[in-house]
Amino acid sequence: MTWSPNSWEQRLHAQEVIYPDRDALAAAVRTLRSLPPLVTSWEVERLKSYLAEAQLGRRFLLQGGDCAETLADCVSDIIANKLKILLQMSLVLIHGGRRPVIRVGRFAGQYAKPRSKPLEVRGEQTHPSYFGDLINRVEFDPEARRPDPGRLLEGYKHAALTLNFIRSLSAGGFADLHHPEYWDLSFLARAGISDELRARYQRYTRQLGEALEFMEALGEGSFDDLTRVEFFTSHEGLNLRYESAQTRHVPRREGYYDLTTHLPWIGERTRALDGAHVEFFRGIRNPVGVKLGPTATGEDAVALARALNPDNEPGKLVFITRMGVDHIGERLPALLSAVRAAELRVLWISDPMHGNTVKTDGGIKTRSFDDILGEIRRSFEVHAACGTILGGVHFELTGDDVTECVGGGLGEADLDRNYASACDPRLNYRQSLEMAFALGELLGALPPARAPAIDRRRPLAQPASAASEMTTSAKASHSETTWSRWASASTHSGGIA
Ligand code: PEP
Ligand code: CO
Repeated sequence: MTWSPNSWEQRLHAQEVIYPDRDALAAAVRTLRSLPPLVTSWEVERLKSYLAEAQLGRRFLLQGGDCAETLADCVSDIIANKLKILLQMSLVLIHGGRRPVIRVGRFAGQYAKPRSKPLEVRGEQTHPSYFGDLINRVEFDPEARRPDPGRLLEGYKHAALTLNFIRSLSAGGFADLHHPEYWDLSFLARAGISDELRARYQRYTRQLGEALEFMEALGEGSFDDLTRVEFFTSHEGLNLRYESAQTRHVPRREGYYDLTTHLPWIGERTRALDGAHVEFFRGIRNPVGVKLGPTATGEDAVALARALNPDNEPGKLVFITRMGVDHIGERLPALLSAVRAAELRVLWISDPMHGNTVKTDGGIKTRSFDDILGEIRRSFEVHAACGTILGGVHFELTGDDVTECVGGGLGEADLDRNYASACDPRLNYRQSLEMAFALGELLGALPPARAPAIDRRRPLAQPASAASEMTTSAKASHSETTWSRWASASTHSGGIA
């Protein structure tokens, strides 16, 4: 079938939203098509060049944010706190892993949620499930749950408002947050942390502060440069009406870009090879993520890679494994070896959240800090054994003091205190920061071959077919933020820390 931004309409559509008012839907899509893009093609290409480097172990991807972003979350504190925790985590990971970190938020459009049941029953009443703020409202009444095409435009506008604030903050609002002395490190005092680990993390924090001071003292670049931070956006590309309405050609570039976000991903429930989502995402130039759960086979992974990245372009495809701590060791190796045997270029990252959701005896959905960390640890081990690279992580987290996941200082009895997620349980600020310290240690323990020095004067060692991407990469490195330079400076110095 020839691809077009609407060819997906001919395919079977998992999780399809049926809009009762077709005229209103057509009008909303028309408006969305005429509105300016949320992101640009050159940002998308820059991210792709970074992901190509992460595939080679030269960068590390940190992706995180809410399970379900809501329109009500579009307030300054919530957005700023989310950026703050992602930034702080990234600094810890740069320091631990000795390589630049690509920061990608699950934000500015993470408004559509797949559901296991299309209908929700409460007592005598049955209404459509809540499919995220892009589709309907969470209140349990027929009016709120009816899919409303107007929400496609509301979602777009709130994504634009969120992104506007993110861009402003990224451009220089983070001066203090670079310094660990301004961070909330109270997790270090919690009883579950051994004296030895505490001392290690404290040393780590001190070294990180010193490295940052060193960087500032070098005086390279302007103050603006030092305080500018690069963030990219991502969301599950679930609602194909939203995605396709913003998918377009841009001047002087080939192909189509989905300009609602830099990195859309296909969820575990919508990755059928012959389904609407794979059809839509195979035709765009953006990098694309795919969630792979415990039922995914090596053949599935190879077929998806061939469909979504037919030219085997570096940085184009991100496989996000989410098997659960009990399954990852058994299930992941087949995927890794099949993809490697087929010589397909993939960035492997770990989502340690979605395979580790459990219910407490009281019926509350939660995840344990130890299971989450356990799945990441196992993923590193499996990749090491298979000779492949784990190049990133994908978390559900928030910068606020919520009580949704257990461990890292919270017990089951705490969950009632501030369970605020509109969908799955997220790590809170302290849990996320502690997770970053633990992950930083894992990254730091990788053999040197996986964390080669980043030498900007040397082109990437890639096969000849990747030559065009090398050009993009080389260009992109000129616009690097100070943080990447700092990471490479600390690598070359043989250890500021
Ligand atoms: C999600 O990332 O929120 C999600 C629904 O994930 P998955 O598709 O892996 O279940
Ligand atoms: Co989720």
